[in-house]
Amino acid sequence: MTFEKRILCIGAGYVGGPTMAMIAFKCPGCRVTVVDINPERIAAWNSDDLPIYEPGLDKLIAATRGRNLFFSTDIEAGIRENEIIFVSVNTPTKTFGLGAGMAADLQYWEKTARQILEFSESSKIVIEKSTLPVKTALAMERILNCRENGIRFDVLSNPEFLAEGTAISDLEEPDRILIGSRETQTGLKARETLAEIYAQWVPREKIVTSNIWSSELSKLVANAFLAQRISSINTISALCEKAEADVTEVARAVGMDSRIGARFLNASVGFGGSCFAKDILNLVYLCRHYDLDEVADYWESVVHINRYQQERFIRNMLGAMFNTLAGKKICLWGFAFKANTGDTRESPAIFIARRLLEEHAEIVVSDPKALKNARADLAGAEGAIAFIEDPVRAAEGCHAIAILTEWDIYRDLDFRKIFKKMIQPAFIFDGRNVLDHHRCFSIGFNVYPIGKPPLTRF
Ligand code: NAD
Ligand code: UGA
Repeated sequence: MTFEKRILCIGAGYVGGPTMAMIAFKCPGCRVTVVDINPERIAAWNSDDLPIYEPGLDKLIAATRGRNLFFSTDIEAGIRENEIIFVSVNTPTKTFGLGAGMAADLQYWEKTARQILEFSESSKIVIEKSTLPVKTALAMERILNCRENGIRFDVLSNPEFLAEGTAISDLEEPDRILIGSRETQTGLKARETLAEIYAQWVPREKIVTSNIWSSELSKLVANAFLAQRISSINTISALCEKAEADVTEVARAVGMDSRIGARFLNASVGFGGSCFAKDILNLVYLCRHYDLDEVADYWESVVHINRYQQERFIRNMLGAMFNTLAGKKICLWGFAFKANTGDTRESPAIFIARRLLEEHAEIVVSDPKALKNARADLAGAEGAIAFIEDPVRAAEGCHAIAILTEWDIYRDLDFRKIFKKMIQPAFIFDGRNVLDHHRCFSIGFNVYPIGKPPLTRF
């Protein structure tokens, strides 16, 4: 079969895999290949045991894999054979040298640019799908266009806004598709080529175009604004606990103002995920680079508050449990950074688990999808750690349950049965405000929600 367009994606991760599966599904006329340097990841994409858990992903893969979606480790052939190349490699926070702990580590990104240059035998459109600092496209252009051999590269920015756990519906019905390009004749043509792909299923009015730097910056700013809302409501949760107000009631009242909006106002043990902290720190680094220290400080506080909220959770536990956790057994319900994913990157659960171990507590980790990652995250941590998938069994013989991920399964468990099998007095610390706190209290638990007065017998 001949295909209208041949598309490559470099990087078969949480973004590359689902995004390309959606393009393949919606554009049967396109042949889509996803490549990665990690052979195990590619083998998993080619198996029934996909490398990531995402609701609906298995069906999408079943409908497309082998038809017009292919996973491969042959990066060289991929670059040679495809004219549209998405780059979706990881861009973690730098851990060494200048900008360590703040700036984006662009080594994977630059390596990819050099590979594209080395193996290309014809002109290409190269699309930044990874989240990158502003002006990264310039570096990409400089690397790609450093040879004068008649091969042209047009670089576009097309950031991804999907959230894990809802990736498939986010991809199917995105709020917007953003495409940034150079405003030259070839830049605009490349932009239209990409817009045509998305227009196969996304209404044209939702396909927004901009200059390339605005596009790069918009992605960082979108994540910063989302994280800022969570840190804002989390600061208010601290105040509610002192002032006997209820943060859920405050969030509802505030969010009903249509100018503010109701979403992303759930107070929690803190935000996690591979991107929020990384992208804000990246923004902070950029601001400092441009001598905008006040702006940098403002955004950095979003990350500080997030760490404060996690530490506050531990301090609340300590205070409630008579100022010592040593030798106490604490069950963690949820380890993923949010529900409906097995991803634990930057999960608040990692920090909480390590802090509990520092306090010499014993921990039992429970999660329906993230135990494999949890094991890896806690490898080498000192102390007693058990992993039990069933939350009811995990809580047996424990002094307290700490809810760290908002999995639906936790809402409707047999709390009477759980209470009877725990050490008394039994505690629940609901870091996600998912339980019926009054019901748990009436069963006998001492309940500590986030941002609400605790329900205790003391
Ligand atoms: P990931 O770590 O899951 O996947 C990245 C993949 O790139 C890995 O499998 C890695 O092996 C591969 N890779 C690295 N260097 C390579 C190279 N030179 N050649 C081929 N493959 C290479 O990361 P992710 O979560 O998919 O994120 C990718 C980018 O998308 C990041 O910039 C991230 O900020 C952004 N993003 C992520 C999400 C999300 O929900 N995870 C959402 C929007 C944007
Ligand atoms: C986030 C953004 O929502 C996506 O638009 C973006 O594409 C992505 O980052 C990215 O660039 O990686 P994601 O991290 O997958 O997506 O998930 P979110 O739903 O944003 O949740 C992030 C964290 O905030 C989770 O730990 C979640 O539990 C927490 N959260 C979210 C709250 O604590 N309260 C809320 O009200 C909402």
